[in-house]
Amino acid sequence: MNQYLQDVIKGLKSEDKYLLSRYFYNEEGDRLFQEIMELDEYYLTRAEKEIFQIHAADICAEFPSNNYRIAELGAGDGTKTRYLLEAALKAKSKFEYFPIDISPNVLNILKAKLEKALPSLKIKGLAQEYFEALSTLAQLSDIPLVVLFLGSNIGNFRRDNVDTFIAKLSDSLRPGDLFLLGVDKKKDPNRILAAYNDSRGITAAFNFNSLKRINADLGGNFDLQKFSYYNNYDPHSGESRSYLISKEEQEVFIKAANQSFHFEAHEAIHTETSRKYGASDLQKLASRHGFKIKREFSDEQKLFRNQIWEKI
Ligand code: AVJ
Repeated sequence: MNQYLQDVIKGLKSEDKYLLSRYFYNEEGDRLFQEIMELDEYYLTRAEKEIFQIHAADICAEFPSNNYRIAELGAGDGTKTRYLLEAALKAKSKFEYFPIDISPNVLNILKAKLEKALPSLKIKGLAQEYFEALSTLAQLSDIPLVVLFLGSNIGNFRRDNVDTFIAKLSDSLRPGDLFLLGVDKKKDPNRILAAYNDSRGITAAFNFNSLKRINADLGGNFDLQKFSYYNNYDPHSGESRSYLISKEEQEVFIKAANQSFHFEAHEAIHTETSRKYGASDLQKLASRHGFKIKREFSDEQKLFRNQIWEKI
């Protein structure tokens, strides 16, 4: 049985139903996320882009001066990374760029784009899971490594499982290696609520796409009309949480699973966590896992941060 089907069954059989947000990103999900990034309410992408536009050279000044590698967890569309890579090339130090993404298709598109924009860039995509790829790199040689994890993708880890991720990252690095993190800040809860409840309903459609995908790829019979989108924000944990709520009692059949799933009226499917971090949340996280925060950059409105962590 494929991983996707297994994950869907596990999530829908759980006491608190969930679907993993990593499965948002099929063709339609990628397109909807592009639209989200342009929404007035979704400030994250613009804020991080501003940081890179203004501070790319300062960020690169912290990178190793000689021979090094940049690995990026989750390749994305390269728009933001491009500023950084451009600045790194200008700094005239020798480096290679390794975008890591489970999708070879995403890597090919990124590679074509960057080769055109930055012809002198040495780029090699790794179509593997993040930590497999990092261990491949470590086995190749002991060249210093800079790992990028941008766009507040770290937000998708809940407060109770982010430690597992950062522990694994820490284990994959050598002393002196760097981690460049892009992370959304805790802020006025209303601003955060608006970012995940946009007036055009694009974020809702993005969440509904997780049901549409089950229908298309696994032969599900979800009736989208019978669910509504709901998001909330908990200012203590910093977790923005998204849900699809069953409007009525219903059964949903999934052919590939050869079973049906019962929903009570108002029962929720958790679809995504987008966690926000305060300064001390990050300080504690870094020090728990053997990192020192070396530098921090923010946008003018202080909405978003990029931090450089050094493995000690
Ligand atoms: C790509 C995970 C950073 O959580 O803000 C945007 C995805 N979800 N709107 C986020 C998302 C709803 C985004 N990340």
